[in-house]
Amino acid sequence: MPRHASSIRVSRTGRAFSAIVIACSLCSFAMSGCLRDAAHPWPDTPALPPESTADLSVAVDWAAVRGVIYDRCVTCHAEPGPAADLNLTLATSAQRSALEGRLIARINDAVFPMPPSGLLPEETRELLGRWAAQGAPIESSAEPRTWLDLSADLERADLSTEGERMGSAASSVVPLAVGDRGIGFLERMNGHWVGSMELMGQAMPWFAFDYRPIGPSHVHGIFEGGTMGNLMTSFFLARYRGVDTLVARNGGVLNGIYRTSYFVLDRIEERSGSTEYRFVDAIGGAEIMWMTLVFTEDRLEWEAYTSRMGEQPEPSRHMLFSAKRKSVDLAERAAVEVGFPSDEPLLDLPDGFAAPDWGSYGRATSASYMWEDRGLDAERMGVLAGDPVRIEHLTHLSRLTVSVERTPAIADATLLVYLSREPFTDESGSLRASGGSIRENVFDTVLLFPEIRRTQNDLTFTYLHPGEYELTIVADLDRDGIPGSGDPVGPSRRLVIEPGTHPRVIVDDVPP
Ligand code: HEC
Repeated sequence: MPRHASSIRVSRTGRAFSAIVIACSLCSFAMSGCLRDAAHPWPDTPALPPESTADLSVAVDWAAVRGVIYDRCVTCHAEPGPAADLNLTLATSAQRSALEGRLIARINDAVFPMPPSGLLPEETRELLGRWAAQGAPIESSAEPRTWLDLSADLERADLSTEGERMGSAASSVVPLAVGDRGIGFLERMNGHWVGSMELMGQAMPWFAFDYRPIGPSHVHGIFEGGTMGNLMTSFFLARYRGVDTLVARNGGVLNGIYRTSYFVLDRIEERSGSTEYRFVDAIGGAEIMWMTLVFTEDRLEWEAYTSRMGEQPEPSRHMLFSAKRKSVDLAERAAVEVGFPSDEPLLDLPDGFAAPDWGSYGRATSASYMWEDRGLDAERMGVLAGDPVRIEHLTHLSRLTVSVERTPAIADATLLVYLSREPFTDESGSLRASGGSIRENVFDTVLLFPEIRRTQNDLTFTYLHPGEYELTIVADLDRDGIPGSGDPVGPSRRLVIEPGTHPRVIVDDVPP
């Protein structure tokens, strides 16, 4: 690709990163089954702008509204499979929803707000309300620009200056020389963690991560969100500017945006039975984003804070995963296969991470490598993004494609897909349930839990630990996000995934 085209692409991606990926890199979580009990039939509400003293006659420019929608809504309301079948990247759909009153009702709904993470600032809601009251025009008086051309916003935010400032902060990132505490951390991280997740203010009562070694000094876990995207984190030993330390690699693909961010360990704190490890953005430091993992015996509290690439004055809490280690045997088995643990670093980075190319977005504020393209797969985007560690380097990991043949009875259902240690069904093929829902002790063996949207039939697990799994498909007819007696369930089947392979399974036995 010619340099010019590529830098334009990157500038868009850079924007998308700050606005969408950081804000919403975990939005795929919000789409997972655990949260779908928030879905509800929606009463018709008249289009009322929020109460305001602002002058309703001041014309609102569509460009301003579009900016808000792009920043705050399109992670979920875009193809493929837009939430609530509402594709807000289409100006006419946004207009229709505004004129019908739903858009304004939902952004002002304190109980079920849009975005689901919480009410937008009052001025923003007032702006959208005024736009709707003026008939929701979708022509702009401003310079014509394409949907993704956000150069005007970038100039306004003067991000290149910000970039300079943050870039200079890079020198303040001082990695901690870990010694054998590095392996100690990786060993602690290993295991099947089951607990709860709080993400951008939303609570998910059940959540799990499955961490196992994938190399001599490298452990990995992933949340596989399904047809919309995924989010992985791996931790490894690295020689970073001559210091042996720990690095975290975090990111994934969400709605066609590839992102990988790198963090370095800068602090370990011991206090009354707990150990806290802090990782900070390898370029922007703690001002841009950081996470802490606190281990207390077999418990983990994992918090992540982000400033959305410096757009917020200081990082705010993005997620809290609070969990208990249920087992380590799968990690122990993987350790034997990959020669874990060894203190040999995965990467030697004498000059740290190369500054990512964010094109006209300005100087990179973060060690975040990004690319946006709905038509490309993760391998290709990883190369284009300049990501130093890519999926093809992780040769121990596998993939799995699951294709479900839908019968008419489940044609419209969201399909819940589970890879678990124990089968969900008994010899007769019925769900191992009690009181109408799956038994808790069976559900707690779930390792991965993506969904297949109504409009799709296939799902590919990427970055999958090889090993044995039980695969179960549940058609979520009662739309409560969990397997229950009201949902057709296909009999669990045992899969053995060899390292570095990509098998495909066709499921045609979910009963009608
Ligand atoms: C994290 C994902 C997510 C984000 C971000 C998000 N939405 Fe939604 N939205 C949903 C989901 C899921 C539903 C369906 C469930 C529900 O209604 O709560 C929905 C439903 C809606 C509906 C109701 C659809 C209908 O026709 O009744 C509207 C309107 C809406 N969203 C508007 C917005 C707007 C405007 C924004 C940005 C300001 C936004 N959403 C941001 C996930 C999201």
